[in-house]
Amino acid sequence: MESRTFVEELEAFVRARLAQWGEVMALGEDVARGADVPQLLRLALANEISVSELAAIWMPSTTAWDIKIALAEQAGDEARHFRLVSDRLAALGFPLDDFTLPDENPLFAYLKSLSSPVERIAAGQFALELLAYQVNETFMRYCQELGDQETAELYRRVIQPEELRHYRRGKQLLITHATTREAQRAAQEAATRTIELAATVRQRAAEELGTSCFPGC
Ligand SMILES: [Fe+2]
Ligand SMILES: [Fe+2]
Repeated sequence: MESRTFVEELEAFVRARLAQWGEVMALGEDVARGADVPQLLRLALANEISVSELAAIWMPSTTAWDIKIALAEQAGDEARHFRLVSDRLAALGFPLDDFTLPDENPLFAYLKSLSSPVERIAAGQFALELLAYQVNETFMRYCQELGDQETAELYRRVIQPEELRHYRRGKQLLITHATTREAQRAAQEAATRTIELAATVRQRAAEELGTSCFPGC
């Protein structure tokens, strides 16, 4: 299949999965109001640092220059998101003195196990960033409902345009590199598994937090 057609179909598939999931999330939003913004921003920190690290780990063992540079840029962007979110937490009166690195969850364990450039892009910059963009939209609405306009603005003005850029670059890289049947099969598998594992991890976190409206990265 021509790679552009393949990627368009993969995007439709991922969006459909996220839409099904969105229905569940919307219900969660109605029934549970257990978490506050600082609690959710701490989870954002864990996500941002984990994705920054993942992109950094993948960079040296990726030989294609365009993917290597995209990973390096993403590692920097996600690190900057960590800083912005930690600054916001400090402004809300929650400094990071006791912040510790999150334990590795099954999603990141799976992502770290991926070895081919096409799988990494399909899972990371494509599927996970599309997911992040969508869950952040819900998180922004949640912040606005709780009256925290400043956090919503931080996401709207700075973080979301960059998450969108990550996902769009991932899409372009897939069009360039997912040109064979084997590469397309690997990309499909990696994107699907990523969305499934993210659903499981987020469901578990939602139960702990009392809301599913928490950000991605
Ligand atoms: Fe991102
Ligand atoms: Fe991010």
